[in-house]
Amino acid sequence: MKIAVFGGAGYIGSHTVLQLLERGHDVAVYDNLSSGHRSNLLPTAEFVEGDILDTQALQAFMEDFQPQGVVHLAAFKAAGESMLHPEKYSTNNITGSLNLLNACTAVGVKYFVFSSSAATYGAPQYLPMDEKHPTNPENYYGYTKLAIEDYLRWYDQLKGLKYAALRYFNAAGYDAQGRITGLEKNPANLLPVVMECVAGMRKSMQVFGDDYATPDGTGVRDYIHVSDLAIGHGMAFDYLEQKQESLVVNLGVNSGASVLEVIKMAEEITGRQVNYEIVERRAGDPAEVVADPKLALETLGWQAEHSNLRNLILTTWEAYLANGVVR
Ligand code: WQD
Repeated sequence: MKIAVFGGAGYIGSHTVLQLLERGHDVAVYDNLSSGHRSNLLPTAEFVEGDILDTQALQAFMEDFQPQGVVHLAAFKAAGESMLHPEKYSTNNITGSLNLLNACTAVGVKYFVFSSSAATYGAPQYLPMDEKHPTNPENYYGYTKLAIEDYLRWYDQLKGLKYAALRYFNAAGYDAQGRITGLEKNPANLLPVVMECVAGMRKSMQVFGDDYATPDGTGVRDYIHVSDLAIGHGMAFDYLEQKQESLVVNLGVNSGASVLEVIKMAEEITGRQVNYEIVERRAGDPAEVVADPKLALETLGWQAEHSNLRNLILTTWEAYLANGVVR
């Protein structure tokens, strides 16, 4: 199938392109390189530098490539930033996504795989969280993801666009063969922040609270390897093509790791120390977020295989070493 990957130069996007190519798809990437890396681009996938806010360039790309499938990962994803600058998220995540949906129906795209998020759920009311969990996003980023899921339901009903909204939990790790090594600039997520500490790129980090009702008091999250996420995207296209039915599904591991467990494992693997200071909780942070991925197994046949904490940290460390950090 011809698949256009929007945001395909990004961290999750490039791993998804790799997996779609390995599954024999004909892939083209459309990315504005605002956060993605040209070095993440794979030679066997066509690349067009463009913005989903540029409707003319978007239309020209779609008319030229004529994809049957689309993966949409072109969005801003910093929850904290979305509360300070909602306009940026409205424009890029909502207007940009609507531009993309209209560009898809204009050229008859049949399958749309959407990068959604556990942030659509908001604070956990029960754990592990399944797809029936209430969706009350606590940050504007999570709201933009839920809003696009609503639009997708209408475009399915009115235009027959079949979609899979994949609700990622906490993405981490890198390709085990080192084929993708682009590092996030100024990361806010835990694993890259810890890696910057052991790599000597940052003197210390803050641990946002150690008074949660968790085993060691620090926040627990469901960290999922980006290669497992990518495999889920490939399976989603197979599902949409075979079943011709849309789907909303969690991609997570159903087990959690705490902040201190991540720090300790990083110190063990790298032999370096992480200097950290325990500070106040970060607003909006729940104590624990863990996925129930049962529906993904039942529908897609998907389950995480690369997401043990050691592999997540080891492959991330290898990516930092590949960028010149001295072992
Ligand atoms: C993880 C844990 C922090 C940084 C966010 C988005 C979510 C998804 C993943 C896109 C928490 C703690 C972190 C630090 C810390 N993004 N932490 N010090 O908040 O679970 O989820 O990213 O889909 O939508 O909301 O991820 O990596 O920011 O935090 O103590 O410097 O690490 O408190 O417990 P989060 P995170």
